[in-house]
Amino acid sequence: MRTLDTLRIDAQLRLAHGVSWLTAQRGDHPSRLLHWPWRQNPYPTYRRMREEGPVVSSRLGFSAATTRAAVDEILRSRDFGVEPPEGVEVPDQHRAVDLSFLQLDPPDHTRLRKLARPAFSPRRMTEYRAEIERITADLLDAVPARDGFDLMRDFAQPLPIKVISRLLGVPERDDADFVRIGYVIGGALDGASSARHLREIQDATAELDQLFARLMADRRAEPREDVVSTLVRQTDDGELTAAELTAMCRLLLVAGFETTVNLIGNGVMALLRHREQWERLVADPALATGAVEEVLRFDSPVQLTGRWSRTDTEVQGIPVGAGEQIMCLIGSANRDPGHFTDPDRFDITRADAAEHLSFSGGAHYCLGAPLARLEGEIALRALAERAPGLRPTAMPTRRGTLTVRALSEFPVSTGSR
Ligand code: HEM
Repeated sequence: MRTLDTLRIDAQLRLAHGVSWLTAQRGDHPSRLLHWPWRQNPYPTYRRMREEGPVVSSRLGFSAATTRAAVDEILRSRDFGVEPPEGVEVPDQHRAVDLSFLQLDPPDHTRLRKLARPAFSPRRMTEYRAEIERITADLLDAVPARDGFDLMRDFAQPLPIKVISRLLGVPERDDADFVRIGYVIGGALDGASSARHLREIQDATAELDQLFARLMADRRAEPREDVVSTLVRQTDDGELTAAELTAMCRLLLVAGFETTVNLIGNGVMALLRHREQWERLVADPALATGAVEEVLRFDSPVQLTGRWSRTDTEVQGIPVGAGEQIMCLIGSANRDPGHFTDPDRFDITRADAAEHLSFSGGAHYCLGAPLARLEGEIALRALAERAPGLRPTAMPTRRGTLTVRALSEFPVSTGSR
């Protein structure tokens, strides 16, 4: 990156940050979500926004959908897409990584998603269960119970990365590299925060692409029963290009890693903060399936996603002009009292918890939802069975990300000495 580009990007980011900070100070709720201290706990801001209406305009020029009905309507509507309208240039710092069909509209979205879908079929899920249980047990065997451990570093982070790596076909010896790189790229979902950050993301992406290139060459020479082998064959058959293949591997890695980590982290935090719910799970570990849905609803790992309106349209009767950008607040939709009774209460037996929008909706509905549910259920059940006395030993540390709601550290002890 040239010095001039660096200066330009930093100047643009500083200006945007300053303007949105001032707007936030003046009471603009959508801008507040971008800044501390509101960012730390967005739920009170979501409540105020829902009280303003299902679609709230920001003085910064975008809108936010706040209720479950509004978010659901946008995600399912053909009047909205993920690609910016023609003529709108999204700067590199805002779209720092190419994440394949997550960022594409039909027809490319439809074609690429179809190629990735078989990896997440119900038959495949049954096959993965034993492997996920083995990985979970190995991680818990290695946990130093006596001195306590870090739930994120020792359990919530390695579990999904090992699962998605085995599914893709990444050899175990590369796990540490994938964790390090996945962490940088996952942090890029909010865009880059400086020219230096953008460079870090670009370097990590290049390194990841190299690791995948090596893996693809291995699988081309000696195919196996993994996702990369299948995708390489499809590339050779002309169903996708080499660049599309690399971007898809990147998407599967980041989507499979960055989110499920936080399902486990946010879930254990919610359970330990509502001790009676943890005790219920310990008494009946079969409640883990419902607990996963309630965790997803109560503190969604993905808090928001963006859409652009393709045409003049309406959302919940409110006019939205063509070319507008809308932030769909999944985290707010999940706490909408118009849909969920007493939505701020955490209850792992809530009957309608699965009506959350944490896996999005419509064409981009999370492809990995069955895998995420399976991993979450196995992880919570194993913790409840093997560490019933689990308790926090210090306050968890929150990551500064907006799209992904995440902890970086969570010191705990199993309570057994
Ligand atoms: C708790 C864990 C997870 C959550 C909360 C989650 C959430 C989401 C959300 C909200 C979207 C859609 C974003 C949008 O509409 O713009 C999405 C898409 C996607 N997710 Fe997940 N996800 C999780 C786990 C996984 C896993 C384990 C995988 C496996 C690799 C995965 C793969 C994908 C893919 C491939 C897409 C793109 C779908 C498309 O654009 O058609 N996700 N996920």
